[in-house]
Amino acid sequence: MNLTQDMSKVEVKGFEAKFYDRLMDIITLGYYPFFIRKAIRDLRLKKGYKVLDFGAGTGRNALLMHRYIGDEGEIVGLEIGKEMQEQFRRNCATYPNIKLENLRIDSPLPFKEEFDIVFTSFVLHGFIQKKRDIIIQNAYNALKPHGTFAILDYANFEVDKAPWYVRFPIQKVECPLAQDFIERDTKKMLSSFGFGDFEEHFYFGRYVRLLKAKKCN
Ligand SMILES: C[S@@+](CC[C@H](N)C(=O)[O-])C[C@H]1O[C@@H](n2cnc3c(N)ncnc32)[C@H](O)[C@@H]1O
Repeated sequence: MNLTQDMSKVEVKGFEAKFYDRLMDIITLGYYPFFIRKAIRDLRLKKGYKVLDFGAGTGRNALLMHRYIGDEGEIVGLEIGKEMQEQFRRNCATYPNIKLENLRIDSPLPFKEEFDIVFTSFVLHGFIQKKRDIIIQNAYNALKPHGTFAILDYANFEVDKAPWYVRFPIQKVECPLAQDFIERDTKKMLSSFGFGDFEEHFYFGRYVRLLKAKKCN
């Protein structure tokens, strides 16, 4: 199949965007809040860290990250969805060190060696490979030397060999770009940009992974 960006469902809009957090909780049968708290704990953020969040959504993740970085750190969320931006602004309004920028992550970004962590959660799978490469390069450029690119997304596995309850949502609910992402080697992809020293944490029976990659050279 010839994959094109217009097959993507990653730009969340309308009803899905308005009720995004609640929908995530419902489709995971109430497990999402526990999962996301654990994944953000596994980031091992430190007080004072500067975090750049690609495709920041409603700000739910930013609020969880703020618990670790405190008032001396900073979170910059990049988000293009109107409904998502509104929720992000509302949810994070009382935190002056959580900011939102209306910037596309799949076009070259202006950040240079400014952040300790670039985080992206359930975003990278929704792009064609050419755009994923731009996003990875943006993360690399934005990170301080030895900074960490943390990707929370589907893990790498053979979708056709996965059980039906994993195969069905990926092949029938997600866009075809998700299967393409899952069946590529993400670590190899990141290595070619100068990332290494990988650390992995798995969730949902090893089908979801937090992949942390250090900026090496
Ligand atoms: C599946 S949602 C995940 C949201 C959030 N990261 C989370 O884990 O809750 C993907 C998000 O990426 C945003 N997005 C999609 N394409 C984008 C782009 N090119 N630049 C910035 N944000 C984008 C969408 O609007 C949406 O909020």
